Amino acid sequence: MSADTLRVVSGIQPTGNLHLGNYLGAIRNWVRMQNEMEAGSECLFFLADLHAISMSHDPVELRRNTLEMAAALVACGIDPDRSVLFNQAQVPAHAELQWLLMGTARMGWLGRMTQWKDKAGKNREGQSVALYAYPVLQAADVLLYQATHVPVGDDQKQHLELARDIAQKFNNDFADDDRPVFTLPEPFIPPQAARIMSLRDGSAKMSKSDPSDMSRINLTDDADTVMKKIKKAKTDPEPLPSEIDGLEGRTEALNLVTMYSALTDRKIDHVLAEFGGKGFGTFKPALGEVLVETLSPISERFNALLRDDEFIDAVLARGAAKARERGLPTLHAAYEALGLLRHPG
Ligand code: TYM
Repeated sequence: MSADTLRVVSGIQPTGNLHLGNYLGAIRNWVRMQNEMEAGSECLFFLADLHAISMSHDPVELRRNTLEMAAALVACGIDPDRSVLFNQAQVPAHAELQWLLMGTARMGWLGRMTQWKDKAGKNREGQSVALYAYPVLQAADVLLYQATHVPVGDDQKQHLELARDIAQKFNNDFADDDRPVFTLPEPFIPPQAARIMSLRDGSAKMSKSDPSDMSRINLTDDADTVMKKIKKAKTDPEPLPSEIDGLEGRTEALNLVTMYSALTDRKIDHVLAEFGGKGFGTFKPALGEVLVETLSPISERFNALLRDDEFIDAVLARGAAKARERGLPTLHAAYEALGLLRHPG
């Protein structure tokens, strides 16, 4: 890879539906980066099915969700002819490299991860080892391909900082200064919509694991459901302010305005210049409309793809073959740097 070549790598867990937070925080940027790639640069996007087994799961559902999430990504605009689209489990080098990095990652680093603390709660002893070591697999995911840029929402920033720390320590400990084994990846976090919040609680992020379906907009929701969820979204009784400062402390209002601004690609100031002084009775239907406009072509494509498992299977197999090839040189370099006598295959 030459110095000005971009390698964009990112993943999503195939658990449940794709929601608006995933779309605005990450997937939309994946599509944009893919469409702006220049010759020699490449995007790799994957379903993090190996990550999904860190929590209790139903194997039949995981298999189904992996195919559905792949279909959802294609429906959002990921083009398997331009990007490498695959699932981790078909590329054993992810799990292999994770183990090779385990000697470098420190217990203390993992213990500080907020996602670990949130997911484990008070019952740390009862969690799987995989949940604790999860960020090491995430580091392997990007380091394996010499990722230069990793488009993610704000909640993944800490995991990427950890990936950089692991890469740096591994390079320092095991590589010559002029021939590092790993590239340090840069997180790419959108300036807007990096953290879309729940529709029911402006202090919690929109998430697949929230038990209330009313808390999120799924990319598969039909127009009536979208309108209903937005109408019921929590707000306050005040009209919208004309300037962004007026949204301070109004987390739910800020969240809805952020969604509108991201969906219409307009600055928050511009949105408030239009809606300042108006109540949610006016703003919510306008937001519902832009949501339906964005989502309905995606869900139409998604529904068509769902009828074609064979196509998605073939896309993933083809993507995995490419990914295995792309990852091999780095995997071999890591074995070598560690002094391991690897199988020559
Ligand atoms: P996951 O599956 O939770 O989410 C996928 C992407 O969606 C973003 N996202 C959000 N962005 C804005 N607002 C929200 N409410 C919101 N919820 C989710 C996430 O930041 C993410 O970019 N550990 C990762 C998957 C992963 C990965 C990787 C990502 C595995 N290996 C390597 C990047 C690189 C995860 O669980 O994302």
